[in-house]
Parts: sequence; structure tokens; C-alpha cells
Amino acid sequence: MSTWHLRDLTDADLEEAVALESASTTVGQRALFPLSEVVASLVAGEPAVAAEAAGQIVGTAVGRVDRDRGWVLRITMHPEWRGRGLGSELLALLEQRLVAAGARRLVCALPVGETGTQALLNSGFQERRDISWFEKLEHVRPQDVDAAAGLGGAVPAPNLWQRVQGMTTEKDLIERRIVLPLSEPSLAEDHGVREPRAVMLFGPPGTGKTTFARAIASRLGWPFVELFPSRLAAGLGGVASGLSEAFSTLAAMEHVVVFIDEVEEIAGHRDHTGSDVGVVNELLKSIVSFRERPHRLLVCATNSIGSLDGAFLRHGRFDYVLPIGPPDRDARRSLWSKAVSDAGALDVDLSQLVGASDGFTPADIGHASQQVAAATFEATLSSGTRVRAGTADYLTAISHTRPTLSRDDVEAFGHDIAQFQRS
Ligand SMILES: Nc1ncnc2c1ncn2[C@@H]1O[C@H](COP(=O)(O)OP(=O)(O)OP(=O)(O)O)[C@@H](O)[C@H]1O
Ligand SMILES: [Mg+2]
Repeated sequence: MSTWHLRDLTDADLEEAVALESASTTVGQRALFPLSEVVASLVAGEPAVAAEAAGQIVGTAVGRVDRDRGWVLRITMHPEWRGRGLGSELLALLEQRLVAAGARRLVCALPVGETGTQALLNSGFQERRDISWFEKLEHVRPQDVDAAAGLGGAVPAPNLWQRVQGMTTEKDLIERRIVLPLSEPSLAEDHGVREPRAVMLFGPPGTGKTTFARAIASRLGWPFVELFPSRLAAGLGGVASGLSEAFSTLAAMEHVVVFIDEVEEIAGHRDHTGSDVGVVNELLKSIVSFRERPHRLLVCATNSIGSLDGAFLRHGRFDYVLPIGPPDRDARRSLWSKAVSDAGALDVDLSQLVGASDGFTPADIGHASQQVAAATFEATLSSGTRVRAGTADYLTAISHTRPTLSRDDVEAFGHDIAQFQRS
């Protein structure tokens, strides 16, 4: 004879039901559905039942209906009330409720040997030993996707890191200093390696700073948000208040890579004309609070590192100050090789292209190869047969492309490296 009575479980029982959860477990393993999800179902009015004895809840069963499938999310029982058929009675009533809500196939997944197993078997549930459960936790929460979208950002495609051609020295450095500590935070902490929070990339235009910033986010699988001074300025309070608003949204995100390109535009020397003192101060303050939270990285980029306000680069704000220079021979070879293969060109002597494009940035190589691609495309259209570019076509395009960087630029970059690099 039952000495308990069964009834529906309501919001008012929440505290008691939660307290019973920890007393109930037999094996102490993590349940498939976390408590938060069980509570959310209960609060949302999904089927849930309780057994009460002497004014106390001694057992619960909480479910959720998903089309015609009824999940038994939780079965809990007080240890003193086990072995008397309580679990089966709870399940019978929950079953009724689930079926009434449209469920036909009832399912439950429990840690092996957990409280409730016997009740399920007694109630006619078949144990499926032929199934393995697979789980994967994605980094990005839906609310972070929304927050990023509100700031014009998104989670980048997963393969951008692999698409950065050549630049092996830079890639290797960024991988070791930035990507690995952020992607393996516990292991890094165990070794006393601090997670980086902010990095400054500097180098001439078109060398791949933006490309690297996106690739880092892609590699980590984190949302990427670029802050544009022009967009920040659109609000009533101007750039300073736009910055403060943007950083407070970013603070609520669990993971994020934030990128500010041409940061010298808003963080130039405070004592020179040009930069607004209020804006520089706001950015400095934002970086300090940004650094306090885990799982985030600020990447700033500049073509003109010498013009940044001195306070900006002082230790404590940016963990690393890394040069991203024009591509070396290997990087140029990979860039050309990719362009040549994209164009379906055959028998191109890459070494000649590499030699002729010394001083070219990836953007310059992109420009020259697009010239060749467009010309061959047009030639194919007008001749009616597939035309393929050869070495000479590429060499001509190279000779018609004015490299972004002069010798003086490259020399000045060398001086900047000597003065500012911190890796
Ligand atoms: N290592 C690389 N592999 C492949 N493509 C690259 C690489 N670096 C740059 N690119 C390409 O070259 C172009 C310029 O790169 P990017 O915009 O990243 O340069 P940047 O340093 O940010 O320039 P700026 O200083 O003008 O902002 C882009 O089209 C980018 O896709
Ligand atoms: Mg850029």
C-alpha cells in the first residue's frame, strides 16, 4: 500500500525538488540534462509529477514533449523511499501526462546504474544497449551569436586559419602565443601560462592583419566582432560613448574576438591634434575592464604604430605587439600557387613569379592575379575555347602592378620592428 500521494509538480515545489536531486543520486554522474534544463521545463509547464509523504516531496519525475517524443528528463527519489514501487508510480503518472500532451515514444537516458533504472525496467521501458550517446559542446551560446550580430559580427567560417597562405613565422608565433593558450586554457593555467587578452598587429597596408584577426577567431571557433569607429560615432554621444556601449555588450559575451582596424585613428597621440582625448581615454579604460574577463581577445591593427599614444602600448594593456610584414619567398610562392591553381592555369613557373614579386603584399599579388584571371576569362569568351594563362601573362601583370610598398616603407617597417615588437 502506498504511503505517499501523487500529484503534479509545480513552480512552488522548485526548491524542494532541487534539494531532492542531490540526495537522490546513486552514482553521482553528470545527468544528460543539466538541472537548469529540468527547471526550465518545469517552469515552462511541461509535464512533471511529484510524490508527497508527510508533507514532504519524496520523489519527482519531470518530462518534456518534443513532437511525438516524450522525454523523461529526471527521476528522483529520496533514498529512504526506494524499493517500494515509488519510481514506477511516478513514471506511470508522468507517462499519462506525456501521452496527454501528444507523446507516443517515451525515452529516457540515465547514467549507468542511476536511480530510476529499475523503475524504467519495471515500467516496460526497453534498455537499448546498441546505442552510444555522443555529445559535443559548441563554444558559442545562441545569445552570443545574437550579441555579435547586434554589433555587426558573426562566427567566421571554420577554415580561415588554413587559408592563410605562407607567413609561417607569423602563423607559428600567433599559434603559440595566442591560439594555444586560449584554446587550452586549463592546460595553460596548469603551466602558469597566462591567457592573452589583447594583441597589437602592426605592419604596412595589405599584409594580412585583418586576415590574421579573422583567422584567429575562426581557429578558436569564437564570434568575431569588428568595431568600426564610423559606426561607433553614429550614436548620440559620439565615438567615446559608442565605445563604452559596445564594450559593455561585449562584456556579457562568453567568448569573443574583438577587432579594431586602423586603431591609430582613434588612439593617436593625445597631445597631437587628430585624436580626441576623450576617445583615447575611453578606449584605454575599456581595455582594462576587457582584460578582467576570461575567454576573450582584443586584436588591434595599425599601419602606423609610431603614431599611437604612448600609454597605449605600455605593458599591461597589450600582451603582444607583433609585426605582420610583406610575405617572404615561401609565402609568395603559396600565394601564387593558390592563385594559379584557382585560375586553372598550367605550366606556370612559380619561381619566376616569386622572384619578380619581391616587395609585393598579398593584396598586390591578389590584384595582379585578378588581372590575369580577367584577361583569360575574356579571351576564352571571345575565342570560344578555354584559354589558360602562362608564366608570361603573370610576369606582365606583375610588371604592371605598382607594389604598395616602396623600399623606404620596408625600411621604416624594419625600424618599427626594432622599436615596438614585443613577442
Ligand atoms: N597570408 C595570406 N594568405 C592569403 N591571402 C592573404 C594573406 N594575407 C592577406 N591576404 C589577402 O590580401 C588582402 C589584404 O589582406 P588584409 O586586408 O588582411 O590586409 P591588412 O594588413 O589588414 O591591410 P590594411 O592595413 O589595409 O587594413 C585580402 O584580400 C586578404 O584576403
Ligand atoms: Mg586591415
